[in-house]
Amino acid sequence: MCCFRARCRFPAAALLAVLALTVAGAPARAGAGAVRYLDPALPVRDRVDDLLDRMTLDEKLGQMTQPERRYVDAQEVTRYRIGSVLSSGGSAPSPNSAEGWADMYDALQRGALATPLRIPLMYGVDAVHGHNNVVGATIFPHNIGIGASRDPGLARAIGAATAEEMAATGVNWDFAPCVCVVRNDRWGRTYESFGEIPALPAAMTTMIDGLQGDGGGGAAVLATAKHFLGDGGTAGGDDQGDARISEEELREVHLPPFREAVRRGVGSVMVSYSSWNGVKMHRNRELISGLLKGELGFAGIVVSDYNGIDQIDGRSGFTRAEVAAAVNAGIDVVMVPTRWKEFIALLREAVQDGEVPMARIDDANRRILTRKFALDLFERPLADRGYARGLGGAAHRALARRAVAESQVVLKNDRVLPLDEGEKIFVAGGHANDVGLQSGGWTITWQGAAGPTTPGTTILQGIRRAAGPAARVTYDRNGTGADRSYDAAVAVVGEKPYAEYHGDRTDDLRLDRADLEAIDRIRAARVPVVVVLVSGRPLDVTAELPKWDGLVASWLPGTEGAGVADVLFGDADPMGRLPVTWPRDGDQEPINRGDGKQPLFPLGFGLTYDDR
Ligand code: GLC
Repeated sequence: MCCFRARCRFPAAALLAVLALTVAGAPARAGAGAVRYLDPALPVRDRVDDLLDRMTLDEKLGQMTQPERRYVDAQEVTRYRIGSVLSSGGSAPSPNSAEGWADMYDALQRGALATPLRIPLMYGVDAVHGHNNVVGATIFPHNIGIGASRDPGLARAIGAATAEEMAATGVNWDFAPCVCVVRNDRWGRTYESFGEIPALPAAMTTMIDGLQGDGGGGAAVLATAKHFLGDGGTAGGDDQGDARISEEELREVHLPPFREAVRRGVGSVMVSYSSWNGVKMHRNRELISGLLKGELGFAGIVVSDYNGIDQIDGRSGFTRAEVAAAVNAGIDVVMVPTRWKEFIALLREAVQDGEVPMARIDDANRRILTRKFALDLFERPLADRGYARGLGGAAHRALARRAVAESQVVLKNDRVLPLDEGEKIFVAGGHANDVGLQSGGWTITWQGAAGPTTPGTTILQGIRRAAGPAARVTYDRNGTGADRSYDAAVAVVGEKPYAEYHGDRTDDLRLDRADLEAIDRIRAARVPVVVVLVSGRPLDVTAELPKWDGLVASWLPGTEGAGVADVLFGDADPMGRLPVTWPRDGDQEPINRGDGKQPLFPLGFGLTYDDR
């Protein structure tokens, strides 16, 4: 299967460039005649062979080096032949706009094009639920909600929309989707998983098709299946911890989504920080080179995680031994945000001393260059600003609203849903009127934040619109003022935003006291109450549930909160089903289908309005 839907036209500019190079003196070390690697009519393999023959060791080492944008500039991209740059979570140019991003990308790209061989660079971000670093971009539900939708076509469409919003900014490498299989909901990255059984992340690898241009859209970026391997299976749900599991469980539970991603032609795979039975994945040659590249036949780029090689020896910073161990394990691009000059020097030493074979360096470069040719980067290196109009546009927001509606899971409904237009409705809870809280982590900043961090529709705004002009909707986050005159109440509560290990929870997984008090005030007024839970995972609601008339798992819906109201008012029938088992209490974790434990709600549970 084609890895990318490469646009089949070759702009005249590209052909003129080849001609110009032929006439005006091709890059140094050129062979006789036309510069083959610049000829878009040639097979990618031939272009890679020709370019590789022309490259010096330093040019090859630069291709394997990925600094963070704050620690490199365009001149250094030229001088050190840098092959890619990343934005870590929330690392954005100023202004943080499509134009600001495109200007930043183009400036760095021109640095790459100023090198003798003019090898264009790739730029990577974590667009994990839309192009979430960019203010104004469409923010889709996090993966756990997409898993609840059970809709691979939706995942593909989200990938295509995300690729278009990325293209508007020049960014062409997405460190997504996470195809992790979450086995312990205490893990701070539970919401980045499509679900607890391998079939769910495997099914949602359609997002890769959308991102890489096989979804029929116009834009194509490099997708990344992450994190290889077993990041969701660590003991205690400890982020970056140790997956102490058999090879059989590793292969049966955690490997299938990567197998499917490779089958779909995913362009890159990111290595996990975690360990498998005490061996850091970043140095696990057997799994990276043996299993992923060998057995699965993965021909794309293996990229490290952020400073991932620093963790190999358990001490801070990295050494030549760690550099050599990571590259020899099969890592092709090293995400080395700050000390990238030192990385290049140590890798050069390791190659010159024979510790890292030149064949490994050439294999890494072959993989990198193949993806750059497949992305059309040699012909179209600069940002395609024509996509800017679509960034955060009505079409993508409508898609996101549909995704929100499809992801809602109704867990309890004692004749309180759907709400009726024109009713008198009381809304409470700190998550009701806050785009930042309903979007969660990886939104504008790495950890996310409360408040109007980016344009969107809050759940309360959605309720007000859905209730109609005749309705009377009152909001008080603490539930103060609720009385018997109200037909129903909606309490929107949940978790504060977090990302990665900051979201690991070792507590009782219960709701915050303020949320419970707001709900109790409504109940004291004897108003039927529906609790809408905005969270990245199941929480312990067992003791409270009998006092509630309804419960909806909303997950982390993103900017289009109206999708929640669509379900609350029956404008969209609830179709969502649990992508993870819902525990009775935190002590049941890890709890998964088939483990013999008795959950509050099983995997796959979800009510429709026909279940009233
Ligand atoms: C982070 C995450 C990874 C992300 C990378 C770059 O630490 O583990 O998922 O892609 O760094 O931001």
